[in-house]
Amino acid sequence: MTAASLPPAGHPTPPVPPTQRLDKVIAVTSGKGGVGKTFVAANLAAALARRGHRVLVLDADLGLANLDVVLNLYPKLTLHDVFTGKCTLDEAILQAPGGFSVLLAGSGMVEYSRLTAEIRDEFLRAIHGVVPRYDIVLLDTGAGISDVVLFAVSLAAEVLMVATPEPTSLTDAYATIKVLAGQQQRQLVRLVVNQAARPGAAQAIANQLQQVLDRFVVSETGRPISLLPMGEIPVDPEVRQAVMRRQLLMEATPGCPAAQAITRLAGLVEKVTKPTPA
Ligand SMILES: Nc1ncnc2c1ncn2[C@@H]1O[C@H](COP(=O)(O)OP(=O)(O)O)[C@@H](O)[C@H]1O
Ligand SMILES: [Mg+2]
Repeated sequence: MTAASLPPAGHPTPPVPPTQRLDKVIAVTSGKGGVGKTFVAANLAAALARRGHRVLVLDADLGLANLDVVLNLYPKLTLHDVFTGKCTLDEAILQAPGGFSVLLAGSGMVEYSRLTAEIRDEFLRAIHGVVPRYDIVLLDTGAGISDVVLFAVSLAAEVLMVATPEPTSLTDAYATIKVLAGQQQRQLVRLVVNQAARPGAAQAIANQLQQVLDRFVVSETGRPISLLPMGEIPVDPEVRQAVMRRQLLMEATPGCPAAQAITRLAGLVEKVTKPTPA
């Protein structure tokens, strides 16, 4: 990465405006890393595919992608090759074990830690290329509020914020939602609480965060933002086991508590995705 390829100071590469959000795209994101975004995105995709939807997961964690690891895929071609013109979009789309498609990023690409105008354009081209072919596109984004993450999230009609009940995760989720309300004029963010210790955690945490959002974010942005609980996924030893075996939970142990929670989440998610206009 050379200084010349960075956007000039004063010319930031902005997220897309709300009018350009893509209806079928759901960003799976979080404030803090390691909370379960990739686990949720991959297994939610499998659950949605099982319900008959054509699903693609796009590994939008460009710098630190690991969807391939979870799915035990060894991609020869990735989004990086699409971006650099080495292959077509079709050549880089793989079939995942759960009956859905994936577009993997390839890991360790330091150049993707910063959003340049080129990456922004390539990313836009890729997403506009895949969206017409699927019913639902899930973006497995990085954590936090870097410009790459915020750009990926800005493309999505729906945001699924993953948080664990830990105070650090909740603080980071709050900070991220605040940015989404301000910078992206989001009025709705959906919350899934992962690694929950008890049923009802998502509702309780959503209420708690909503109170803080109502007090501080509305006063700053002048607009209310709603946090909608989408349920919780319990801490389940089978999740780690599946990751260690590099299997999808939905395939390894579809009846375990976390897999059942993902199935319920898929039921809620399919209701929020809008049908494709004919
Ligand atoms: N519900 C859960 N129960 C137990 N362990 C979990 C659960 N969700 C995630 N994990 C553990 O957390 C790890 C990190 O999850 P991952 O999806 O890679 O996070 P992220 O994509 O947000 O960085 C997983 O590999 C798994 O071991
Ligand atoms: Mg991840």
